[in-house]
Amino acid sequence: MVHKIIELLRSKGYIIESHPRRGYKLLFIDDLSLASMYLSDLDTKIRYSVHYVRSCTSTQDIAKSLAELGAPEGLVVIAEEMSQGRGRLGRKWYALKGGLWVSILLRPKYLRTLQLLSLISGLSVVKALSRMLGISNVKLKWPNDVLYNEKKLAGILVEGSVEADEVHYIIVGIGVNVNNDIPKEIENLAISLKSILGHEIPRVPLLRSLIKEFDTLYNELITCNTEKIINEWTKYSSTIGRKVKVITFGEVIEGIAKGLRSDGSLIIVDDYGKKHVVYAGDVIHLR
Ligand code: BTN
Repeated sequence: MVHKIIELLRSKGYIIESHPRRGYKLLFIDDLSLASMYLSDLDTKIRYSVHYVRSCTSTQDIAKSLAELGAPEGLVVIAEEMSQGRGRLGRKWYALKGGLWVSILLRPKYLRTLQLLSLISGLSVVKALSRMLGISNVKLKWPNDVLYNEKKLAGILVEGSVEADEVHYIIVGIGVNVNNDIPKEIENLAISLKSILGHEIPRVPLLRSLIKEFDTLYNELITCNTEKIINEWTKYSSTIGRKVKVITFGEVIEGIAKGLRSDGSLIIVDDYGKKHVVYAGDVIHLR
């Protein structure tokens, strides 16, 4: 029975040492410089390796430079803090110490289904959080914001180098507010796990859980199992069924978010019953 529980906790990302006579010890590992060691035994399709830095401008920049030097798929760049963290649509991303700031290098062969990459990244954060910490109120806002009570808990930025239909590399940037303080300027917009749960969260088990979920979903994506991805994303979504306002390429559309198409685009039906399909943009939940 104890063994079963230990295995269950391990599958959620917790790191538990076992000693033949002394029993088990749950490790609270928040030291990301040790992440490389703790990712090496993960049962994943891709082999993940960690490049850890104490501080940098953006983990996206480091991952890009290493990608251009030929680094293999599965490289995970992690920083303790970033001075020029980037968000979507050219926004600043505040990345103080205590958060989980990672960039994952991928080298997919084909472009097809890649538009779902940002969806699966957000989904893997939500699944890791609900699996490891049992937080159920974490929701996805299209395309890939992770929200808790409408405040941003995590964000995703997908960048890459693509030519015609050839993909050189893709960098998936994932930022999770874990134990970091939230700056005053964005206090009304963002929230950390520490403030939700009232205690610090060990980041290494969270990273393990996140990588494991990401790896499974990424494998579904490259094998074109899009229906499963769309269904799961919809299950965790707070956008679908809501009245929303979308700002997309200078156009503003207001209506009910009806669902996702198989390519990840959002279907909106406006007050006149007209259907709109949105491929990129900023969503505001109205009610
Ligand atoms: C967003 O919500 O606008 C996307 C935020 C993405 C933040 C992550 S943190 C790791 C990676 N490095 C960056 O500079 N940005 C991404």
